[in-house]
Amino acid sequence: MTKLSRRSFLAASTAAAFVRPRRAAAAVALASVKEAYRGVFLIGTALDFRRPDEFDAAELAIITSQFNVITPENSMKPGPIHPQEDTWNWAQPEALLDFCGKNAMKTVGHCLVWHSQTGAWFFEGASREIALQRLRSHIATLVGRFKGRVIGWDVVNEAINDGGNDTTAATENLRDTRWLQTVGPDFLTQAFRFAREADPDVALHYNDYSIESGFKHQSSLVLLKRLIADGAPITTVGIQGHWSLTGLTPERYQQIDEAIAHYKALKLKVAITELDVTLSGAGGGQLGGGGRGTPPPPPTAEQLQAQAEAYAKLFGIFVKHRDAVNRVTFWGLHDRRSWRSGQSPLAFDRDGKPKPALDAIVAAAPK
Ligand code: G3I
Repeated sequence: MTKLSRRSFLAASTAAAFVRPRRAAAAVALASVKEAYRGVFLIGTALDFRRPDEFDAAELAIITSQFNVITPENSMKPGPIHPQEDTWNWAQPEALLDFCGKNAMKTVGHCLVWHSQTGAWFFEGASREIALQRLRSHIATLVGRFKGRVIGWDVVNEAINDGGNDTTAATENLRDTRWLQTVGPDFLTQAFRFAREADPDVALHYNDYSIESGFKHQSSLVLLKRLIADGAPITTVGIQGHWSLTGLTPERYQQIDEAIAHYKALKLKVAITELDVTLSGAGGGQLGGGGRGTPPPPPTAEQLQAQAEAYAKLFGIFVKHRDAVNRVTFWGLHDRRSWRSGQSPLAFDRDGKPKPALDAIVAAAPK
């Protein structure tokens, strides 16, 4: 088991001192994923400070001992942060940036352009030119405010359709969104240009789920090649990594491995941006199913072992491509807070206790 750094150990111990002995014991014995992968890639989580007391001491101990980068799960999305043209909600993002600054953690921005969680005002009475003006202003204000304070932005999120077939695989197969309808297919290139105008140094990502396999992978390559040819200042592909034990077949692992190699061949970096491995159900980033609600029955030992092995295999692939992979972010802190909480997808359980996956992930790190 990898030892905690003195700093992480102290943070975990200090926080654990305020909680029940059962949790304190777990926190002190904890392996640290960020320490295990220090110098390999960043290790992240996704969360928001919706209230000052959002997290208890044990949760804060997990955050500071395990991760070195945070993605806001919701608070920087277009709808939450910019619900009306003249209304901005800065409190939650600023609280997150403040926490990251105080704990020597980095922050990733998520996300500038999406078909979901986006105010209708962007499109009201909008011609192509007006929609682009609104987008440019949105990006200039948001990226400009956090210039130098976030390491990267998910510039465009989930622009490719689900599914597909042999015919669509030869095309970008773009999702039929208000952005596509109002601006046309160059909304992506424009968004990347606006982001680069606002921050000349920040990493700029295209982020999507299920792009590592099948027809959607083929479409992602068509799209990325077009963006590069058009001069879009893209630096990174974000493979979200919403996977399920049911879908992680040997073929799927191979596809993930090959997809990273394909993106690397385009001279792009790769980040795993929203990692989780559910015990049941389908993978993918689509809303619905397996969400928050009635707690599921506790996982069996066999399920936890299978999940641990899956995480170890995935991290093995990420390490193999460490020259391209610069970050692996888990989508949530522990199972109770996960968007897939009904399917126990993370390395910490509903009580914040480490699952077998944690040691397996740490053991998969290069020695
Ligand atoms: O904040 C409101 C709260 O005021 C209200 O009382 C409550 C009632 O349901 O809803 C709260 O908002 C919810 C929000 O999460 C914060 O908890 C929304 O309903 C809910 O839809 C939203 O879900 C988020 C989802 O994106 C929305 O699209 C999930 O937390 C978030 O994990 C998920 O993240 C996405 C990534 O951004 C992109 N990739 C896929 C991934 C999973 O869907």
